[in-house]
Amino acid sequence: MTKKLYIKTYGCQMNVYDSERMAEAMGGEGYVTTSTPDDADMILLNTCHIREKAAEKVYSELGRYKTLKAENPDLKIGVAGCVAQAEGAEIMRRQPMVDLVVGPQSYHRLPALEAKARAGQKALDTDFPEEDKFEHLKARPKAKRGPSAFLTVQEGCDKFCAFCVVPYTRGAEVSRPADRIVTEARDLVARGVREITLLGQNVNAYHGHEGGLAGLIYALSDIDDLARIRFTTSHPNDMDEALIAAHGDCEKLMPYLHLPVQAGSDRILKRMNRQHTRDDYFRIIDRLRAVRPDLHLSGDFIVGFPEETDADFEDTLDLIERVQYGSAFSFKYSTRPGTPAAERDQVSEAVKDERLQRLQALLTRQQRALQDAMVGRDVAVLFEKPGRMPGQMVGKSEYLHAVHVEAEGVSAGDLRRVRIVESGPNSLKGALI
Ligand code: SAH
Ligand code: SF4
Ligand code: F3S
Repeated sequence: MTKKLYIKTYGCQMNVYDSERMAEAMGGEGYVTTSTPDDADMILLNTCHIREKAAEKVYSELGRYKTLKAENPDLKIGVAGCVAQAEGAEIMRRQPMVDLVVGPQSYHRLPALEAKARAGQKALDTDFPEEDKFEHLKARPKAKRGPSAFLTVQEGCDKFCAFCVVPYTRGAEVSRPADRIVTEARDLVARGVREITLLGQNVNAYHGHEGGLAGLIYALSDIDDLARIRFTTSHPNDMDEALIAAHGDCEKLMPYLHLPVQAGSDRILKRMNRQHTRDDYFRIIDRLRAVRPDLHLSGDFIVGFPEETDADFEDTLDLIERVQYGSAFSFKYSTRPGTPAAERDQVSEAVKDERLQRLQALLTRQQRALQDAMVGRDVAVLFEKPGRMPGQMVGKSEYLHAVHVEAEGVSAGDLRRVRIVESGPNSLKGALI
């Protein structure tokens, strides 16, 4: 009999990819996914530990399943992802209705853990096993899928930024072998995928190909029906010469780069253990723009890192003014137990709030300006799905802008030239050329 699996995913794109793979692994055990927890036989939360709020969400979500569990004692509840890795058995102590806890490096063992939970035992696995989980996961199904896909190529982080839990939850940097990735990419393309975003916590530290990430990108660009390649997230110190050059040379590599810098003050960068200065960051961007002048940049910023002064914060605003971002994510510093910065002098919540507002106002202005500057330009749009209006389709430009187009006869997966005619609050409007 088929059973129903409800997966809720938090956090980064790597969790999105992992959730897909976990659903597929449970597919082999007779589970089909369902979009609501109400009729599920198993609920799996794939969690994020990056900020306090993200981690706490897990417990409030679990609280909502109390009645479901009371009505259906056969319902199994699992916690996967980075909270699972960070808190392990503590999750079951805090919330006894949890049957199963599985870390991001051991989810190939999920079917065995589920069987253990079905047998009435608590199941826990937060190992960093020797074996490569991807080698132990079943072959991916052959079903058709949408035009864009994520593909994890690298996991873990050796950088140990002073604020960040990722090196502890995801472990050391590991790269998947290039031939396996190319095989998985070919398979995705055969199923209708035209754009692949390569994922890694430090994707540009990828070393599963002798030419590094650039080598992998060139190898993937040989796949005929693959039209677009993207990658995320990168660390400035791993932007090597070959990868910078690929932005000018590889046609399939899109002119959009997420390159987080976190802060613009050298003093804070040092305290964050970022291992680079603001000038290093500017130099990388200059080199990228020299080979690809139309490159759009995106970034991540943390405001209110311990000991951040007004002058430090002004340096961050100044860095943003110089770079001109196409989009960005920004966060108030969140104290993470066990990380070095947690022990230092904290900035008050009120100051963090005020800084975040100023920073976001500036980033929004830049984002809007770059988006408005697209009007009158011709872009390539990879169509993804129907829009809200009849006959309308929505897709993404090279620069990751959402573009709405009256596109009778165009299907998801089509790549067409479009002239941008209007810029709205969050998206562009265009006409087929
Ligand atoms: N590996 C990536 C992203 C890691 S997490 C990188 O190095 O860029 C995504 C973002 O969350 C980070 O870039 C950072 O801006 C933010 N972040 C990480 N830890 C944080 C913390 N303790 N408080 C607030 N934001 C944090
Ligand atoms: Fe976290 Fe820094 Fe590693 Fe990114 S590079 S995952 S911010 S420790
Ligand atoms: Fe969150 Fe883990 Fe990703 S902490 S951001 S889900 S690597």
